[in-house]
Amino acid sequence: MHIAILGRQPALGMAELEQLYGSRAVRWFSDTTAIIDSPAFDFERLGGTQKAGRVVSELRGDWRQVSMKLVSAYAQAWADHEGKITLGISAYGFKTTPRDVQKTGIILKGKLKERGVSLRLIPNTDIALSSATSHHNKLGLSDNHVELIVVRGANGAAIIAESVGAQNITALAARDQGRPKRDAFVGMLPPKLARMMVNLAPVKAGRILDPFCGTGVLLQEAALLGYDVYGTDLVPKMVQFTQANLNWLTDTHHVTPNVTLDTGDAMTYQWQAPVNAVSCEAYLGQPFSAPPSPGKLTEVRGNCNHIISEFLRNIAPQLAPGTPLCVAVPAWRDSAGRFTHLPLVDSVGSLGFNRTTLRHVRDDQLLYYREDQVVARELLLLTKC
Ligand SMILES: C[S@@+](CC[C@H](N)C(=O)[O-])C[C@H]1O[C@@H](n2cnc3c(N)ncnc32)[C@H](O)[C@@H]1O
Repeated sequence: MHIAILGRQPALGMAELEQLYGSRAVRWFSDTTAIIDSPAFDFERLGGTQKAGRVVSELRGDWRQVSMKLVSAYAQAWADHEGKITLGISAYGFKTTPRDVQKTGIILKGKLKERGVSLRLIPNTDIALSSATSHHNKLGLSDNHVELIVVRGANGAAIIAESVGAQNITALAARDQGRPKRDAFVGMLPPKLARMMVNLAPVKAGRILDPFCGTGVLLQEAALLGYDVYGTDLVPKMVQFTQANLNWLTDTHHVTPNVTLDTGDAMTYQWQAPVNAVSCEAYLGQPFSAPPSPGKLTEVRGNCNHIISEFLRNIAPQLAPGTPLCVAVPAWRDSAGRFTHLPLVDSVGSLGFNRTTLRHVRDDQLLYYREDQVVARELLLLTKC
């Protein structure tokens, strides 16, 4: 059993886990963490989980009680440990201070010293180490680099877990900033979100299609996850950008994906089989730095709705029944934080698709945005009827 420390928008991370491992194998433990009970769990493939740990103990209590248990268990477990241990301790959901978390580590360090075992403790500036600190210290990646993840759940239950790794922020940033072709106007899909979107249209293997491929961020993540990739875009320059970025990925990341690219209008294009899953950030309309006027919003919303519904109408008969799709469509936030959605969100059934209903996440939580963004991405999870 594993516990996942979910990212900035926990519902999206939970949706990803549910789609990958099934609704029965996952559950919320607190509002920012999830339990996964699946032998298939693979932290490395996730976009929406910051850290994960193998659950080693379930108990109840406040920080003081859990801390005592932790010290006695690990003083014993590591009494004869060979080599120096680097240790980080991260607490989630406890009413405690960084100082008290640190104190737990210092007491453990003292007890181990008596047994001749040396331990380097990572300082806590917060009660939980940031994923950057965990990643840079390689915590969870070997027997000598350990992070104890201690989580208090909604009902007072607590879990102690040993980290299996933290999100590789260095690699994510390198993919985001290092790819040769970027285009601020078509948008900057964050690789983490692209990875989640691939996982939200889950297939074991095969070819993933992005019919609005832009600069190819989503296809890069799909290629890294081992899929064949297929991209089309209305604009020839975008197809060239995707090609250049995938070439760069092949040169720098030791992957050799099967790549198919073409220029084409998603409203009319005939894709070659096989298409095993579709994942895309569709046309989002123009970017806005402030909420648009009602007239402007009506115009942009109508335009996006037309392109995306015609795309869905066009692709529906080309897909085998059961094919999963994750389509990011725009939703506009007003100054009070309310969203205006695309009309098609309520009528995908008439276009040949079923909307996938998740057990642990509501549809209205599948929105990705930052506080300063007007255009949010609404993730539609669909299956071909
Ligand atoms: C939001 S961007 C996608 C960006 C992409 N995720 C990336 O990684 O760069 C939308 C893309 O849709 C393309 N597009 C717009 N209308 C289209 C249409 N009718 N058919 C195909 N592509 C279209 C644009 O050229 C643009 O590249």
